[in-house]
Amino acid sequence: MSLTHPPAGARPSQPGVTIPKVTMPALGEMKRQGKPISALTAYDYSTARLADEAGIDLILVGDSLAMVVLGQENTLAVTVDEMLHHTRAVRRAVHRALVVADMPFGSYHGAISDSVANAVRFVKEAGAEAVKVEGPRVELVRALTEAEIPVVGHLGLTPQSVNRMGGYRVQARTADAAQELKADALALARAGAGAIVLEGVPREAAAQITAALSIPTIGIGAGPDCDGQILVFHDLVNLSFAPQAKFVRRYADASALFRSAIERYREDVEHRAFPSDAESYHLASSGRPATGTAGTFADSMSGDAGPDFDSENAVVNRDAFEDWDR
Ligand code: KIV
Repeated sequence: MSLTHPPAGARPSQPGVTIPKVTMPALGEMKRQGKPISALTAYDYSTARLADEAGIDLILVGDSLAMVVLGQENTLAVTVDEMLHHTRAVRRAVHRALVVADMPFGSYHGAISDSVANAVRFVKEAGAEAVKVEGPRVELVRALTEAEIPVVGHLGLTPQSVNRMGGYRVQARTADAAQELKADALALARAGAGAIVLEGVPREAAAQITAALSIPTIGIGAGPDCDGQILVFHDLVNLSFAPQAKFVRRYADASALFRSAIERYREDVEHRAFPSDAESYHLASSGRPATGTAGTFADSMSGDAGPDFDSENAVVNRDAFEDWDR
């Protein structure tokens, strides 16, 4: 058990200050006003909460979780149920950012009605405010939009196409391919997409597409001219155990930080330096053995056990731990 977070409702907030919720139309407005959109992936409560409190505009529960959280080789195996599980955790943490859930491979590649039904699950069962689908799936984007589900498109290097692409390669490197990409982006926008992720494309192509679209582009490995940028959280903080890609900027070295913390903890346990007396709970004074008295917990229970213990079984009564500051 950890007491590191009170329920979201108990989060401190400044009285009288209401933070406007980021919505899909609000992202469009940011583009019109020339305000850059910050986006980041998150897959659990704690990192989503940090991202939201840091003012990130869009939090994506990316299917990259297959790799960075579940340790899979690529994104293909992650399931709808796994994505729902993580989306729920993120949703609980986020008050301000737009929460977008990635639809995993296979969940939108069959009949449109099945794909819409899968997308509905993300909204109904996990609280997603939009879904993201990879590729120029214009009919699907139209159907999702008609079903009142905001959609983020994803073009360029689409990781779910890894087998077709033969690896993770920068896309649209020729003028013709860049034109094709632009046509796909325009078609998605016409079909109702609220934003488009452009991944692994030349800066020039991303810039042209961004200028041509009325909806925002969110770039990853697509240069600085997109309307916003997104990174995978684990890349940002160096937790992905992968060589650093050219487009990644590491803002922290969480691997080194966590490794050192875990090593110091292990050493302290091995040297009996943790926990200290100050980090221990004590009997109410009447039942506490004099300092230095050797004796077991059970020994100390004989006589005035106090309300904290089940003296018969000499186990801690959990109810007594409600006041954790003692
Ligand atoms: O799954 C993911 O993390 C993504 C981002 C890279 C855009 O799709």
